[in-house]
Amino acid sequence: MKKIITQNHEESSSLVAYSIADIVREKKDACLGLATGGSVELVYANLVQFFEKGTMSFSDVTTVNLDEYIGLPPSHLQSYRRFMDQNLFDLVDIDKANTYIPPGMQAPEAILADFQKMLASRPRDFQLLGIGSNGHIGFNEPDSFFGANAHVVTLDEQTRKDNSRFFDSIDEVPRQAVTMGAGDIMKASKIILIVRGENKRDALRELLSHDRVDPRVPCTILKCHKDVTIVYPKELAP
Ligand code: F6R
Repeated sequence: MKKIITQNHEESSSLVAYSIADIVREKKDACLGLATGGSVELVYANLVQFFEKGTMSFSDVTTVNLDEYIGLPPSHLQSYRRFMDQNLFDLVDIDKANTYIPPGMQAPEAILADFQKMLASRPRDFQLLGIGSNGHIGFNEPDSFFGANAHVVTLDEQTRKDNSRFFDSIDEVPRQAVTMGAGDIMKASKIILIVRGENKRDALRELLSHDRVDPRVPCTILKCHKDVTIVYPKELAP
């Protein structure tokens, strides 16, 4: 695992955006695995700036997102489809037909069949990750085993609490989501995890301070990947 310790989250976001731009410059039709949430907003803002300056194009890029809430229509303010459209896809020259967010409104079996088919047909050159305060990646929540493939999860109460900041109340946070499995995430050729927020300190320590892989701290599986970079500000350094 490579570590990059930055001055602050702004620097982390800019570094991650430059890495993504490099991948796309090298391979115009790269497939990017993308994430949502507070940790990645500024990464996307940087990418939009690159596009506006004419230094980057998404015209041949395809994307697959990590996860989606079950039961939120794509038009819902907090759906991950809406997040991606607002923060990136509507602001750059990507062909929306080449973007994929799992369809959270369908029946679970249909969502999973669709998602797994998409993952098989779009091998990812890159995967962007954030991390939950409980160590989750995607919505692979702490458990006694890793789900390898895309699956439906019951969200951890901690995750619902953390994400309630985006909703009017915790009661509105969905109880279920669909997520890429740990195996799906690990298939990406290159992974960058950007860590933001004091509440990620313990999970980051579990990732960086020993070599055990523990499904109760899901991010620790990244220790087994051959090309993973963890980017975090110096104040979170364990
Ligand atoms: C989002 C995702 C999650 C988030 C994580 C951190 O698509 O897969 O794993 O990356 O919950 O969320 P923030 O960045 O809001 O703290």
